[in-house]
Amino acid sequence: MKVGYLQTLILGIESSCDETAAAVVADGRHVLSSVVASQLDIHAQYGGVVPELASREHMRAIVAVVRQSLENAVIAWGDLNAIAVTAGPGLLGSLLVGVTYAKALSFARKIPLIAVNHVEGHIHSVLLENHNIQFPALALVVSGGHTHLFEVKSMGHYRLLGKTRDDAAGEAYDKVAKLLGFGYPGGPILDKLAPFGNPRAVKFTSAKMKGNELDFSFSGLKTAVLRWTEHNDIKAETTYRRTLQNPTLDELRAATSQTTLDLVASFQQSVIDELLRHATMAADQVGAESIIVAGGVACNAGLRAQAKRTGFACYFPTVRLSTDNAAMIAAAAYPKFLQKDFAGYDLKPSAGLMLA
Ligand code: KG4
Ligand code: ZN
Repeated sequence: MKVGYLQTLILGIESSCDETAAAVVADGRHVLSSVVASQLDIHAQYGGVVPELASREHMRAIVAVVRQSLENAVIAWGDLNAIAVTAGPGLLGSLLVGVTYAKALSFARKIPLIAVNHVEGHIHSVLLENHNIQFPALALVVSGGHTHLFEVKSMGHYRLLGKTRDDAAGEAYDKVAKLLGFGYPGGPILDKLAPFGNPRAVKFTSAKMKGNELDFSFSGLKTAVLRWTEHNDIKAETTYRRTLQNPTLDELRAATSQTTLDLVASFQQSVIDELLRHATMAADQVGAESIIVAGGVACNAGLRAQAKRTGFACYFPTVRLSTDNAAMIAAAAYPKFLQKDFAGYDLKPSAGLMLA
């Protein structure tokens, strides 16, 4: 795509968890480049993200990733109208790397700085590609760190309707996968294995919420899986799976009994049922015109296939924009740029930053 002089070019920088990412987005909707340096291989050895290692890797990667994003977009520093950075929520040490670097760039290159909430970024991963979404919309943000329901009254106006009281949906996937001897992150692996099992084989009871019925709870489901492993003789296969190095899907399938495949399918179905039940209830409550699903768990093939059950028009990001990336950060910054909502050099990252 040719860069016209009337376009607003925003560089996005994202470092809230275990992905160092930079992207250039024109006018909040045309992705000119999106570079993501994943730390998966490093954290996989530990079965989850190690915060100290994450910040160290961000420091190693960030300069090259940002430079690459400008190169891929075929633009120079002087072409940029703003630098957007994830200010939270996330791991403090990781956020600090992105925020400090963005501030330094903004100061040195005299380019305005914009602070973006990571969760708002995920919502924009959908708005970025779908320009006709009707508001009010209901946004379900489901990732390794978040399970939130927001009413999106209009662009930039959010109301929190419900959230998880314990584990996030992606976290539940990761913990269950670890328990069963599958690798990290667990979501993509269990999602690929689920079609080989019977989703109705194991009955899980859904959590009854006192108070806000739109809140989620996934820790009970995780404990139910743990109990199931204690009552089913799968120790040998679990131990064997732990010895596999980067197995293919066929190898994993071969190393997994039908009983375990049924458990995986039932677990996945239970998560999907909870997510869609809550999303439908919330969308009904606020009279939403559509449902936006974003975050890493939005990659889930089962969730995508069953979303029509809600009866609402459902929008998902393309898979490459579902997991953490910086294009969504640059896109979320565009409305802020139009409103001249710039951050000062006193910007500090906030691990628990709230969207609404
Ligand atoms: O959005 P993301 O990249 O990072 C956070 O902000 O957390 O999401 C990562 C999470 C992980 O927990 C991963 O297991 C989960 O998203 N995930 C999936 C799938 N792909 C990634 N969960 C279920 N099904 C998938 N296909
Ligand atoms: Zn995320």
